[in-house]
Amino acid sequence: MRHWTQLGEAPIPGTNKTLLLYRGKDDFSIKISGGFELMSTRKHGSEDALGSLPCKRLKQVESARVLIGGLGMGFTLAAVLAEVGPKAEVTVAELIPEVVDWNRGPLGDFSGQPLDDPRTRIHVGDVAKLLRKSRACFDVIALDNGPAGLTNSANDWLYSMSGIAAAQDALSPAGILAYWSADPDQAFHDRLRRCGFMVDEVTVFAHGKKGTRHTIWLASVDALFPV
Ligand SMILES: C[S@@+](CC[C@H](N)C(=O)[O-])C[C@H]1O[C@@H](n2cnc3c(N)ncnc32)[C@H](O)[C@@H]1O
Repeated sequence: MRHWTQLGEAPIPGTNKTLLLYRGKDDFSIKISGGFELMSTRKHGSEDALGSLPCKRLKQVESARVLIGGLGMGFTLAAVLAEVGPKAEVTVAELIPEVVDWNRGPLGDFSGQPLDDPRTRIHVGDVAKLLRKSRACFDVIALDNGPAGLTNSANDWLYSMSGIAAAQDALSPAGILAYWSADPDQAFHDRLRRCGFMVDEVTVFAHGKKGTRHTIWLASVDALFPV
């Protein structure tokens, strides 16, 4: 049986649950109170892919503007920073301030300290609010809360028609939306298409080259978007 030591706890806004940070022998885990594991330093293949896949399809990475929601363990942020150029700007919206503190502390080395990168901007707050007030300014928007809204049911809006439309408004003309999900979701895929996007649904391994798979949707209205 594995031994876990609890290092931190943070309330999840809008719920009666908390996020819990645990240290294992040589890894860390973030769980939702009740036991569900939300993130682990052992498995981040699909979080990496959420950052790298859309950026690899950008025509202009040198000075790309990227929005990520939320920070988690920083793996998506690190993957974006590895793809974009020196003049890029990568904004990460994270709802829970303690998650940012944990990344500045014990989690930071696992993702290569991406918060220290001069291209990183941290916005502590709801990514939905940031989307609503942004216009045509992001070349990539990568969202990692899943259409099923794991941590906060208010996140369901992000995956609704109006949430997708708000993301579309925040996207530059040839920009790419990237959404992560634990499972395929045909209804969400169809909503993206109804919003006028060309959609590429990609299946990626959670860790290594076998086992659990996750889904990433890439969506763009650009005629040259390779699907
Ligand atoms: C599954 S984790 C993201 C994992 C991340 N991609 C990584 O590389 O580790 C989801 C994160 O989004 C944050 N979050 C949830 N809802 C949010 C929202 N509405 N706005 C900003 N951050 C949010 C959570 O606190 C959590 O840190």
